[in-house]
Amino acid sequence: MNAKIPDSKISDATSSETDDAHSADPKAAANRLPDHVAIIMDGNGRWAQSRGMPRIEGHRRGVDSVRMVSETCTELGIEAVTLYCLSSENWKRPKAELEFLMQLLEQYLVEERELIMKQGLRLKVIGRRDRLPASVLVEMDKTIEVSSDNPGTQLVLAIDYGGRDELAMAARSICRDVQAGLLDVDTIDEETITNRLYTAGLPDVDLMIRTGGEMRVSNFLLWQLSYAELWVTETCWPDFDRQEFAAALESFGCRDRRFGGLSETPVESTFGET
Ligand code: IPE
Ligand code: IPE
Ligand code: MG
Repeated sequence: MNAKIPDSKISDATSSETDDAHSADPKAAANRLPDHVAIIMDGNGRWAQSRGMPRIEGHRRGVDSVRMVSETCTELGIEAVTLYCLSSENWKRPKAELEFLMQLLEQYLVEERELIMKQGLRLKVIGRRDRLPASVLVEMDKTIEVSSDNPGTQLVLAIDYGGRDELAMAARSICRDVQAGLLDVDTIDEETITNRLYTAGLPDVDLMIRTGGEMRVSNFLLWQLSYAELWVTETCWPDFDRQEFAAALESFGCRDRRFGGLSETPVESTFGET
């Protein structure tokens, strides 16, 4: 992917994440963008509570950041952005918060439909459907359907999603095909699993951003994150703005991704081989 981040988007980004020992010129590095960005949109409750507001106000304000991220991705030509909206563990939360989240989701799917179309985004949803209210599913399917031919970024919402649950689902699907004689056990490889995940067809995650400061993956895209570059900010999701997103992308552009191999620009060998 060769799309360039316009200078205006990176000029005022914070530089603290980019000036480590491996940094190249940030503007040159901005030539390298991720194909797939995944975001753990965390810190909504803390954002609201620190302002004396109920937690749900943080969720409501988080929609503005969702809009900013999807708009920026489509502008930059990023192939896919996956947003963690509800984990399979979030059902442990109070009923009132969950009801609000479902309402907000439905409202988003209706009210943002026009903008999704205007921005040319293609909506995809990953996660379990069976625990979601019927009214949410109806609006979800409508938005997926109308946006299915759009040429822009694939906007992937992870709703009632859990990485372990997804892997168990893939295992069941593989076993069923083996039992039915459609699949030979000895041919099962990484691709077999990749192709049976909700994310089949999407590139692996290149950059994983987490807001709210926690240094954990919270059951998000466990398989797909294998070689993702990680970027964590203390900023809570409702305050995550364009400058900070640009800083994350800029940092990504400076990373030396070795995938277990060696750097593309090798330093002098310490083993003195000839
Ligand atoms: C993330 O924000 C949104 C969801 C999990 C739905 P939180 O609600 O987890 O906010 P904090 O982490 O408690 O501040
Ligand atoms: C992860 O945030 C899930 C989403 C952002 C949807 P959590 O707030 O649920 O994560 P933990 O519980 O702090 O790990
Ligand atoms: Mg949280």
